[in-house]
Amino acid sequence: MSSADIYREIILDYYRNPRNYGKIENPDISERDSNPLCGDELEMHINIKDDKVADVKFTGKGCAISQASASMLTELIMGKDFEYVKKLAKEDILDNLGLQNLGPARIKCALLSFKVLKTGIYTYLVDNLKDTESADKMKEEVSGIY
Ligand code: FES
Repeated sequence: MSSADIYREIILDYYRNPRNYGKIENPDISERDSNPLCGDELEMHINIKDDKVADVKFTGKGCAISQASASMLTELIMGKDFEYVKKLAKEDILDNLGLQNLGPARIKCALLSFKVLKTGIYTYLVDNLKDTESADKMKEEVSGIY
């Protein structure tokens, strides 16, 4: 089995058995977005406690890559420092998925959840932390995701 086959199997497993699927009551961060090419949707809820991700869940409907990517992203950030999550780059998400050299359409599938995450962080920085400097940087990053 090639490494591409292994990654395909892993993605299908996350798609069929999504980890951290669901919603959080009264989340600190609640954000949703859709892929402009297909209309598929993704929503993410996060609770922050002591500057760490205390809980994260997602819901959505879409292709295997978008849903698996969201599920893997929740595992990647669960329990992590908020600063670490703020600094995550799209390359980290693609590495985590094991997918490189995706075409422009598939990149949007793979990064939809990442865009939702970063947009949610932006709103949290503005509304809860009143950190406009970090928020401005985050806004710029969000606009460059795809
Ligand atoms: Fe819609 Fe992938 S085809 S998110």
